[in-house]
Amino acid sequence: MTYLENRITARWWDYTRVVEKEKIDTIIENLYRVPSKQCGYEQKCVIFGPNSYDIKKNIYDNYAWADENNKLLGPGVVKYFNGQLLAQYLFMWVTRYKEVDGTEENWAIQKYRFEKRIQKAFLESGIGAGVVMTIAEDLGLDTGFSICFDSKNVANALGYTDEYALVALGVGYMQDHSDVSNPCLLKAVYHENKIVGYDNYNIPQHLTDKIRKLKPSNETIVEIR
Ligand SMILES: Cc1cc2nc3c(=O)[nH]c(=O)nc-3n(C[C@H](O)[C@H](O)[C@H](O)COP(=O)(O)O)c2cc1C
Repeated sequence: MTYLENRITARWWDYTRVVEKEKIDTIIENLYRVPSKQCGYEQKCVIFGPNSYDIKKNIYDNYAWADENNKLLGPGVVKYFNGQLLAQYLFMWVTRYKEVDGTEENWAIQKYRFEKRIQKAFLESGIGAGVVMTIAEDLGLDTGFSICFDSKNVANALGYTDEYALVALGVGYMQDHSDVSNPCLLKAVYHENKIVGYDNYNIPQHLTDKIRKLKPSNETIVEIR
């Protein structure tokens, strides 16, 4: 049995299909049972459903493309948008830890504790996101991960001023591109009738895009001894 047989990174969604409430309820029920380090919960998951489209569109448009605000690559760079964020349901993990101001005497220990908290936040989020993805796929839903976003700006835009956004997982029903024989792998994104960047189509498993071709063999990434 393989739970992830049909999984691909879903980026474009079929809004004509309604995601069944029972499926989302099942996911949320299990999300609460995901393990955490000593019940510390250095992170939490915030879920934006179909009624929160405007919030999702704001972070999609403004903070969630590979080179956020041209900070790294400079102006003129092609923007790659992340349609995962526009899923019917966006699961977004954000930090719960607070940054600390260490005094000189206790700085080393404060720093050590803080780093551990960050580590736990990332690990717990990843475990939670993995569980949500697996259950969603098993229920016949589609999923897409994204971390190409500005953590601080995204958290702020979602209403969390002290927090950082860690990982996003779109969940819903994707558009079906599986029968496209000669697919265009990029879809233009327009603002006010001007192309402002591109967003990858859903790339069906029988096609290999340039990233998937980099995938190492099963034996390389899963070693059985
Ligand atoms: C933690 C994580 C973060 C990811 N972030 C992004 C992202 O920001 N943008 C994107 O287009 N794809 C993102 N992906 C999707 C991968 O690029 C994708 O899994 C890879 O291209 C292989 O394609 P497949 O998932 O369709 O097999 C992410 C995947 C993971 C697991």
